Amino acid sequence: MSLLSVRGVTRRIGRRAILNDVSLDVDRGEMIAVLGPSGSGKTTLLRVINMLDRPDAGTVLFRGQDIWAGNEEETRRSMVMMFQKPVPFSMSVYDNIAYGMKLRKMSKQEISAAVEEALKLLDMAGKESQYARSLSGGEAQRLAFARAYVLKPDLLLLDEPTANLDPANAGIMERVIRETSRRLGTTVILVTHDMYQARRLASRSAFMLDGELIEMKPTAELFSSPDDPRTARFIKGELIY
Ligand SMILES: Nc1ncnc2c1ncn2[C@@H]1O[C@H](COP(=O)(O)OP(=O)(O)O)[C@@H](O)[C@H]1O
Ligand SMILES: [Mg+2]
Repeated sequence: MSLLSVRGVTRRIGRRAILNDVSLDVDRGEMIAVLGPSGSGKTTLLRVINMLDRPDAGTVLFRGQDIWAGNEEETRRSMVMMFQKPVPFSMSVYDNIAYGMKLRKMSKQEISAAVEEALKLLDMAGKESQYARSLSGGEAQRLAFARAYVLKPDLLLLDEPTANLDPANAGIMERVIRETSRRLGTTVILVTHDMYQARRLASRSAFMLDGELIEMKPTAELFSSPDDPRTARFIKGELIY
């Protein structure tokens, strides 16, 4: 059984389908990439999976259960989404990372150990007491990852995690994404418009356009032999994004 199964999901805004009959399966422990130009529906797909938006048609199964018909609370706890432009809470770095763990009633000791581990992983050791809104853009993005990481989700949804980063910060982010997947076995859906990043990180990749999932295959195959001419055009850089 797949960890996640999106089946025929449509999401409409007015009459327009911003997601149109999208289906995909993700296995436990897998890292997949979702590629596509701006406006193709990538963020909406993550929002629907994360229960922030409700589909108008179709279903999303998580561990075989319809996310809107089973134990919603538990499902919400099993997944964490990192948004495209995360804004830290107006508090210290430490309190930002601890926030979600406090909600989950973890002990002070557990929280403190998890914060230290996450900061080390993200090359941010020593920044505990810094006011989070004074971090650089790259650090703020890493902080957002740390906040997701400490919750140890089964499914991690990353929306363009390196889109606004310089190469050094992007490199750190890619490293921690890879390590999280390897060490914790976390299942990852990585939304990106960076084809090279998909190649470096994802075993399979999907291509989206105008709300439709055009095709999904092993990443190397998607690039070497796309089935659809629209995918081929995207790969050749002919689609604007
Ligand atoms: N709440 C909304 N209201 C109106 N239009 C929206 C809303 N959310 C998304 N859209 C539109 O749906 C399309 C897909 O958006 P999005 O999922 O953000 O695409 P992507 O992440 O691939 O850039 C875009 O045309 C966007 O403008
Ligand atoms: Mg987006």
